[in-house]
Amino acid sequence: MATVGSAVGLGNIWRFPYQAGENGGGAFLLTYALAVLLIGIPAMVAEFIVGRESHLNAVGAFKKIAPKKAWGGIGYLGVFTGFMIDCYYCVVTGWTLYYLFLAASDNLLGLSVDQYSIMFSTYSSGVFPPIFALVSVILITGVIVSLGVQKGIETASKIMMPLLFLLLLALAVNSCLLEDSQTGLEFLFIPNWSEFTIDTILSAIGQAFFSLSLGMACLVTYSSYFTDDVNLIGTASKISVIDMGVAVLAGVIIFPAVFTFGMEPEQGPGLVFKVLPNVFSQMPLGYLWSLLFYALLFLAALTSFISITEVVVAYISEAFKISRVKSVILTGLTFTLLGSVCSLSFGPLSGFTIAGKNIFDSLDYLATNILLPLGGILTSIFVGWRLDKKVIEKQLNIKGKKGAAFLKVYIFFLRYIVPASVTCVLVTGLLS
Ligand code: TRP
Repeated sequence: MATVGSAVGLGNIWRFPYQAGENGGGAFLLTYALAVLLIGIPAMVAEFIVGRESHLNAVGAFKKIAPKKAWGGIGYLGVFTGFMIDCYYCVVTGWTLYYLFLAASDNLLGLSVDQYSIMFSTYSSGVFPPIFALVSVILITGVIVSLGVQKGIETASKIMMPLLFLLLLALAVNSCLLEDSQTGLEFLFIPNWSEFTIDTILSAIGQAFFSLSLGMACLVTYSSYFTDDVNLIGTASKISVIDMGVAVLAGVIIFPAVFTFGMEPEQGPGLVFKVLPNVFSQMPLGYLWSLLFYALLFLAALTSFISITEVVVAYISEAFKISRVKSVILTGLTFTLLGSVCSLSFGPLSGFTIAGKNIFDSLDYLATNILLPLGGILTSIFVGWRLDKKVIEKQLNIKGKKGAAFLKVYIFFLRYIVPASVTCVLVTGLLS
């Protein structure tokens, strides 16, 4: 459940809808589903194998299995990628905290469609309010990570995740009853290939990695705590299905509302924040729904943020031989600084762009569409080519003829399918 807590977060509810909105809806959903099935699940199992075999964190795991070899680099790359994601993840988690505050203080409901768009733009482009929110997020996370309350995260995830799922289900039903829900559902489920490019595939693969917490050895760390009776393939499949289910539910909530309220699906990172308040405003008992939703969204974001931060903090404290608390303070201060720069890239720093993207979007593109897939390719190659087959056999509990055939197929995926397909898309996407 803690691993589900890491996977289910802003990636599903904030990132998936706006990526789908920008990449043509149904075509993106289909590509994303294929990416989860053909690349995500094999790559997740690979991270689980490394984690449970070594019982160590990101960097240590690869070093232990392949001592004195460059494979430890996968761990370092993971820490670096996690560091980058943290810099902007705290900004969006801060936004959810602010909306939770608005919902709780009953200042969210009753505005018009345009007013909600302006409200989000004004808030996110401001200086102190969003920075105050991201600093609060960093402080809360800092306390939790320095106390090392893994148990607490597991317990919280066990209660929160099913509750979040039920709430999303109810909101999805509500959205299906909206006036123009059909247009929204068609947008999400019926592929329109007219805007489909190699970049759509790259974004779908990136989204799969981001949403499943893959490609930065985060799940290596989590699975290093798995006991021997955990079935790795079953667990990876279950997590992927749940994670995808949450993303699809988020889409079913958002897109009917987008079209009913006459909005555009291509709004970028603000999409969910601009659309959802309209939905709550129209619902009976909107105050309660919105309060519950933002509380759960904030907690889901927090458990994911913690999972990334854990990797960075653990590495810094080991590498520099400083205490966990000192490591938390050091990373916390760095995130405050770089997170603020990301936040300001929606306001005062919006003129500073790289290839047409502001700092926030550039970091997200680099980390999600490039570094996570790269980490995934390297991990697959490591497990497929470098790791002893017996280790894989043992970790996957392979028995009998059928098992041997399955093992062959799995290793074929790790050796060829995952690295080749992701490399192809990555290289073509970057060159185009
Ligand atoms: N999967 C999380 C989400 O959907 C984010 C996340 C947590 C993550 N840990 C990660 C992304 C590790 C990439 C790598 O919000």
